[in-house]
Amino acid sequence: MKKIIIDTDPGHDDALAIMLAVKSGMFDIKAITTVAGNSSIENTTRNARFVLKLLNREDIPVYSGSDRPLKRELIKAVVHGNSGLEGLDPENEPNLSGDAVEKILHIIKKNLGEITLVTLGPLTNIAKAILKDRDNMLNLKEIVIMGGAIKVPGNKNRVAEFNMFVDPEAADIVFRFPIKKTLIPLDACNNVRLFKKDFQKIENENLRIPVISMIEPYIKNIAEEEGVDGALMYDPLTVYYLINPDCCRKRDYDIVIETEGEHTCGMTVAELRLKKSVSNNITVVEEIPEGKFKEDFIRFLSMS
Ligand code: BDR
Ligand code: CA
Repeated sequence: MKKIIIDTDPGHDDALAIMLAVKSGMFDIKAITTVAGNSSIENTTRNARFVLKLLNREDIPVYSGSDRPLKRELIKAVVHGNSGLEGLDPENEPNLSGDAVEKILHIIKKNLGEITLVTLGPLTNIAKAILKDRDNMLNLKEIVIMGGAIKVPGNKNRVAEFNMFVDPEAADIVFRFPIKKTLIPLDACNNVRLFKKDFQKIENENLRIPVISMIEPYIKNIAEEEGVDGALMYDPLTVYYLINPDCCRKRDYDIVIETEGEHTCGMTVAELRLKKSVSNNITVVEEIPEGKFKEDFIRFLSMS
């Protein structure tokens, strides 16, 4: 079983990603660490705990982390609603521990070279961990990051994807960090969408009922905000990459993060010129087959 830490800001698609990671049975989830992004740290932590309760997996520890980006005010997402999980709007206690960065470092130290860090939100906690104990962070096996827009438009400004846009300084630190990194950007995610009729096929009603309740506002908000039909599956696709990496098309790139541009802040700027780049710093997943993902996603969530 792959040992992972999921750093996340639930978020409808984060919630679905946690469900996929747990139900696939393929991961030893050492912790879920939370970050402010789609909603406040109180809400993202509350939502993470709520999802684990739905899954009957409250044994997985949740550690809360940063309540704002490194240098900026938090700009929350719109499509997930005020609670971050519109449609379910959990009211359980968030129980903020505030120690996500320390716990990430501690878990890495106890599992040298074995931990894959899966990031589904702004990279604030990860950048802080690098700033705090760089040598220890080099003991990670890999970082798998949901974010960025390489050859497609952004979803937050014209060119930037939300997770990069919210904390570009943190993204900059992580992209410069010399360790194996894989990116699942909008390029791979935009072509995979699920509809209510897909979620209705989930056989396990303990998940089907809450998933349908939250997916309806998510789909409605995406249509209103982004003019797109269907539920975008950014974060579940990121987990799916680890489940079935061989079905994904990928390529190495040299990417830097724009931290200043008036119109381009948060852009993942790739070296696309013809001359060969000598400094590729990240593997980019360019395509994930929609049919295979859908089939496996529904199959795993159907398991009782
Ligand atoms: C990313 O932004 C968030 O709203 C989603 O949860 C996902 O992680 C997509 O741009
Ligand atoms: Ca997210």
